[in-house]
Amino acid sequence: MRVIQDTVRAGAGLLLGVLFLTACEGDISRVPPVHLNQNMDQQARYDPQEPNPFFEDGRAMRLDVPGTVARGELNADPHYYTGKVAGAFAKTLPDQVKLTIDLLERGRERFDIYCATCHDRTGNGKGLITARGLKWGFVPPPSFHLKRIKQLPLGQLFDIASNGVRTMPGYRAQIPVADRWAIVSYLRALQVARTAPLDAVPVGQRADLKPTEMPVEPPTPADSKAAPGADAKAAPGADAKVPAPAEPKATAAEAKPSSAAAKPEGGNK
Ligand code: HEC
Repeated sequence: MRVIQDTVRAGAGLLLGVLFLTACEGDISRVPPVHLNQNMDQQARYDPQEPNPFFEDGRAMRLDVPGTVARGELNADPHYYTGKVAGAFAKTLPDQVKLTIDLLERGRERFDIYCATCHDRTGNGKGLITARGLKWGFVPPPSFHLKRIKQLPLGQLFDIASNGVRTMPGYRAQIPVADRWAIVSYLRALQVARTAPLDAVPVGQRADLKPTEMPVEPPTPADSKAAPGADAKAAPGADAKVPAPAEPKATAAEAKPSSAAAKPEGGNK
């Protein structure tokens, strides 16, 4: 009897040892590994956006205490963070951003990553996504070399890169503030380069210049007014081609969060 027990124990020990040895890293398994010593590897915690009945508003993620600002998130400089000075789009770079060749190089790199997909690397609005999306009803972006776009203040270009415009999405979540300023500086350089005088190009590089197309300007309301009998149709026609940026309209009801709606249901655990 003893001998049998000993043999079984030895056999079990050997089997365990073999199991340990064969459980090498690198083997792929869909089964969670045996995890004998838990330490603090797994803990009770809340996932992002998960409800938590402990708080009155039912959210696990807490908002900033009213009237406070987290360190590094003051963003008190509207010129730098919104492109606006006293509520109007700024025409200049903010003080933090210095116009250097490095800024433009960085801008070119980021523009080619984030904007050229739709706007093309030349800014003509004929990027790959545009070319392929047209048959699915994708709104083609305007050429950056149109008079109307060249007149947009730098701060407005920054705002468009941040928040988007009409059917274009904003890129504030993907592109840091400093890079958005680099991108719009480069965008401006692209525009200037298109109509720069020949003298501005170093003599040695003039032979490399290639002819380029200028975009067809859309008719302005003034143009169509000049045509006889076009008065009535002029305004809507021009609007359709160059729609005014739609400002989001917050109604009073949307602006005020209802305190009743924020209360969790039966949250007395
Ligand atoms: C997914 C495609 C796409 C990407 C990427 C994109 N845009 Fe656009 N952009 C558009 C479209 C489409 C329009 C035209 C929107 C409309 O008129 O509805 C537009 C319009 C614009 C305009 C002109 C706004 C006006 O007043 O007509 C500017 C300036 C602009 N984009 C800048 C940028 C910059 C800078 C980037 C990179 C950060 C960028 N875009 C990335 C699609 C894109």
